[in-house]
Amino acid sequence: MSWRQSLEQVKSRPLPAHVAIIMDGNGRWAKARGLPRAEGHRRGEETAERVVRFVGEEKLAGYLTLFAFSTENWGRPAQEVRFLMGLLEAFLRAKLEELHEAGVRLRALGQLDRLPQGLRQAVERAVRQTRDNTGLNLSVALSYGGRWDLVEGARAVSHAVVHGELSAAALDEEAFRTYLPSGELPDVDLLIRTGGERRLSNYLLWELAYAELLFTDVLWPDLTEEHVLEALIEFQERTRRFGREVG
Ligand code: IPE
Ligand code: IPE
Ligand code: MG
Repeated sequence: MSWRQSLEQVKSRPLPAHVAIIMDGNGRWAKARGLPRAEGHRRGEETAERVVRFVGEEKLAGYLTLFAFSTENWGRPAQEVRFLMGLLEAFLRAKLEELHEAGVRLRALGQLDRLPQGLRQAVERAVRQTRDNTGLNLSVALSYGGRWDLVEGARAVSHAVVHGELSAAALDEEAFRTYLPSGELPDVDLLIRTGGERRLSNYLLWELAYAELLFTDVLWPDLTEEHVLEALIEFQERTRRFGREVG
């Protein structure tokens, strides 16, 4: 089957509504080539761009959420943190028009107040400018942690209860999720983690409850459209039971 035929076949079958990706392995990619880690991150950014374009143009998912920087990543050497922040800012500034023209709606998820001012401004501008777009819902998790998200949700819930806007008895799962910073995102159907580690590293804890997990040894800078298509094929071959059906 040709590439186009495989792609059309995948598109004719049920697609994930929400794909989340842990973009891991940039450092190891660089190390294997005797290059500085920064070069791995630079190549990783190109991969992100390619994946966003592919998923968006082929309409392979309504929501795509990329893990760009975790709350724990603040603990990396200052030089690497600074480089990553600069890279993200340059990416947003350089690609905003293209994303906007492609109809992408950008969201940023995480502790934006911890970001350097230039990056925060670039993020806020991109979010504002693309707010009414109806194409791919692209979220960038930035200074994001799943536990941070849950604690923020708990804080918002207690605030609403204290101010009489919500009765604690009325709080159920559906209501709780609306208080989460990530509350506009649907459940994740497919999680892809590159780089060989088999863990969640504090990503989207609420939304991942029933996600299909796909771990690949491919390092993020090496990921191609073919790998994304293979991941979707594997997703479509899995049987999701949600605890309701017997095997
Ligand atoms: C992922 O690549 C990018 C970020 C976490 C920001 P890493 O930098 O974690 O690369 P490895 O895991 O060290 O190879
Ligand atoms: C997860 O990767 C975070 C991002 C990809 C942004 P890490 O490289 O930080 O995760 P660990 O340290 O291997 O768990
Ligand atoms: Mg890593």
